[in-house]
Amino acid sequence: MEPKRGEDVAIQSIRGMHDLYGAEMGAWSAVEKVVHKTFQDFGYKEIRTPVLEKIEVFSQTVGEDTDIVQKQMYTIERSDEQLALRPEGTAAFVRAVIQHQLHRLPGAQRFYYYLPMYRYERPQKGRQRQFFQFGGELINDASPEADAEIITLLDQIYKALGLSHYEVRINTLGDSESRAAYRKALEEYFRPLLGELSEDSKARFERAPMRILDSKHEADQSAVQKAPRIGEYLTDFAKAHFESVKQRLNQAGVSFIVDPLIVRGLDYYSLTAFEFVSDQLGAQSALGGGGRYDGLAERFGEKPIPAVGFALGMERLMLALEASQKMPKVPAGPFLYLAPLGAAAFERFYPLSLELKRHGLECELLYEKDKNLKWQLKQANRCGAQYALLLGEEEVAKGVAVLKNMSDGGQKEIGLDRIVEQLKQVHST
Ligand code: HAM
Repeated sequence: MEPKRGEDVAIQSIRGMHDLYGAEMGAWSAVEKVVHKTFQDFGYKEIRTPVLEKIEVFSQTVGEDTDIVQKQMYTIERSDEQLALRPEGTAAFVRAVIQHQLHRLPGAQRFYYYLPMYRYERPQKGRQRQFFQFGGELINDASPEADAEIITLLDQIYKALGLSHYEVRINTLGDSESRAAYRKALEEYFRPLLGELSEDSKARFERAPMRILDSKHEADQSAVQKAPRIGEYLTDFAKAHFESVKQRLNQAGVSFIVDPLIVRGLDYYSLTAFEFVSDQLGAQSALGGGGRYDGLAERFGEKPIPAVGFALGMERLMLALEASQKMPKVPAGPFLYLAPLGAAAFERFYPLSLELKRHGLECELLYEKDKNLKWQLKQANRCGAQYALLLGEEEVAKGVAVLKNMSDGGQKEIGLDRIVEQLKQVHST
């Protein structure tokens, strides 16, 4: 019977959640490797938090008025506890910091994570219900140098992968004093315009008028464009902090633009906020984003912990790499296909295949005996091997095998003694 395929199968994965396999999985792994390495080069240590947290971890911190808390969390009730699948990493990270007192370690501490996140959003290109984020978080350091380091690190991740079609947009959300003054100014400005604003923005007006600036509704655009900007309401401290961040970014050679409309969709930020925006992604143009969140710990009843960080979406990163033709080249098949011609050759190749694997040389040997040369070469082509190693009765007698380069057809004899070393040499060139 023909196996069922794709759409015909009755049981499907959940909408907005995808399986990864084959060539796509290979490309993801290659990209993940570069991102892990860049974090490690910058001195960030990996941390993993559980996929489930008590719901308060997010509801108390991310902001009552945010989409995440209002409508996007996947929740589970179990033994009278309300739990949520992690919609974002930062609140869970700070929960772990406080639980393990990581902020008591001396000096700046650097962490990163690579974890799936869950948000009940309307799926579209670059927007899924399960998506993967790499995040970097730097705690115990309130300096503008820490903010600039975090932005430089995110920039370096994209640069290391060869991406260039993006803009770094930065803003300051001020300290609490600046924000109180700005909030008042925004309320005064938007109040007479309420009738013209979208329903979403009307709802935001009462609780978080600054988030109106983040509105994508057409109806809000003209009011948003003319709204007062935070610059005029900044305290000297907030102004100086932002100036230093910009100066440090210039020093680091990171190009950026100041965008006063970057307010972020999560509530816990203060001072620096930023987004990396690509023109190759369509509507979901944010490649990554973050900012400073010194006050988040207070939402867990702790003293403030200076902290700044970012998260980048893997799905969007892969889309951007595809659009820029910067997808890493992943070998289509194994290094070597072992082609035994006859029983004696198979007896030689079976232990050799395991020996090669132990030495880190990927090879394929099919456990089908008595196949002829034509069949073996067809299989070598099918699996995309770089080389095929042919061994017939004559070669066994001579103590050699024939190494065939599958891309140019060139062949040479190599001795069966010390064959592992010789293949290792071929592999490394
Ligand atoms: P965020 O802006 O909500 O920030 O998400 C960061 C990135 O995750 C986005 O720029 C986007 O690339 C990706 N992303 C978000 N939602 C989706 C989705 N539904 N489908 C695919 N990709 C998505 C945060 O999550 C903060 N925790 C970042 C942070 C870390 N701030 C400080 N530290």
